[in-house]
Amino acid sequence: MGALPRFPEGFLWGTATAAYQIEGAVKEDGRGASIWDAFCAEPGRVKNGATGEVACDHYHRWPEDVALMADLGAGAYRFSVAWPRIQPEGRGPADPRGLDFYERLVDALAERGIAPVLTLYHWDLPQALEDGGGWLDRDTAHRFAEYAGLVAGRLGDRVKVWITLNEPFVHMTEGYGIGVHAPGRALLLDALPAAHHLLLGHGLAVAALRERTGGQIALTNNHSPVWPASGSAADRAAAAAFDALQNRLFADPVLLGRYPDLSAYGVTELPFVRDGDLAAISAPLDRLGVNYYSPTRIAAPRAAAAPRPGGASVLSEVEDRLEGAGLPFEDVPIEGYRTTAFGWPVVPGGLRELLLRLRDDYGDALPPILITENGCSVRDEPGRPDRERIDFLDGHLRALHQAMEEGVDVRGYFVWSLLDNFEWAEGYEQRFGLVHVDFATLERTPKASFHWLRERLAEQRVSPAPSG
Ligand code: BGC
Repeated sequence: MGALPRFPEGFLWGTATAAYQIEGAVKEDGRGASIWDAFCAEPGRVKNGATGEVACDHYHRWPEDVALMADLGAGAYRFSVAWPRIQPEGRGPADPRGLDFYERLVDALAERGIAPVLTLYHWDLPQALEDGGGWLDRDTAHRFAEYAGLVAGRLGDRVKVWITLNEPFVHMTEGYGIGVHAPGRALLLDALPAAHHLLLGHGLAVAALRERTGGQIALTNNHSPVWPASGSAADRAAAAAFDALQNRLFADPVLLGRYPDLSAYGVTELPFVRDGDLAAISAPLDRLGVNYYSPTRIAAPRAAAAPRPGGASVLSEVEDRLEGAGLPFEDVPIEGYRTTAFGWPVVPGGLRELLLRLRDDYGDALPPILITENGCSVRDEPGRPDRERIDFLDGHLRALHQAMEEGVDVRGYFVWSLLDNFEWAEGYEQRFGLVHVDFATLERTPKASFHWLRERLAEQRVSPAPSG
């Protein structure tokens, strides 16, 4: 495994985190409650009753975390702002203490030459807004734009990239569709208004940001190549139906100004879409953020009584809940690949495949891409180097480079994650960090993968030998 192929000058190398997963200090400096505070408080929702109350205590230990990034040699850092620190009730004036926290962070990053990449919404909606309907309510989109304006009013001159939403597909399906994430609602397809209001919130926020910043503006989606389980017409149709949800629902409206065909779901009209919404949603973007973890394998729904094939996949829990819901697909395990501690198949080539596909599907409508998350969970065995993560990152970076050689315009790559952190419904069991966190003492210890990446980044910085 040695040096990686050379990435272009100016390519952004970074790590990524999210507010609720690392900050802790959930009651400090006027922070309001978020839907994740409420969800974690409900018995049985999160493994081992874990919460984000302390998490990595990044709220107090951020200088140490910035020093770790500087030591890594990363040129960028993707983090998210906790909306309830800025507007504890989700509306009204900003609490200056919330803005001060992120301003200190942004300034400390800049001092170390690390470009801040700010996500406005990584799933921590103020609970007060959820009480009024959350993303099912159109007003939340307007509240989001107001919040975006408040953050950009303070940091618009210093943040290089603004990401409106993180993975609206996951937020909608897991939070509102099946309820394994906050706010824990299980509405199946009745969650579709949440998709539209997330998209509308994105579009209105883009306008609010443009007025206040010259920084680049982006949306982050998670994309997954969808593999039909066989060449049969039924499996291919099922894969196309799933693809419309996973890959197109949050990309077509933004990049093409229209919704994908959802007729496989019996959805032919979207009564919550109003005149002008799609124009707002499709406002031009400077970057598309892409998170990639693994492909998905999809088959036609099996007959009701057929047994479920064994094996874990990202979607198996979803599938269990959807049993009998009459959806036009089911996911089936991908065989023949190593899996992460989470059970997700490790398929570096899937990254190349999805990037080529995005380019082919969207052509000139596709802005330059940032890989805003990629990484894996590895079992925590103290003292054992995380070789699996090194292999994962090496393989994915080579696949990424190949896609770039084939003409896909990618401008940056962010490892998920800097730190082991609160992995949503999995609590603290799944560890994605380049840096180990001992959740009893909060001590940070860089892993073997951190040292490996530091060497690779140093190699990338050495100027190429003059040719010929
Ligand atoms: C999310 C992260 C999460 C990661 C690993 C992404 O879906 O944006 O918050 O920790 O995947 O599951």
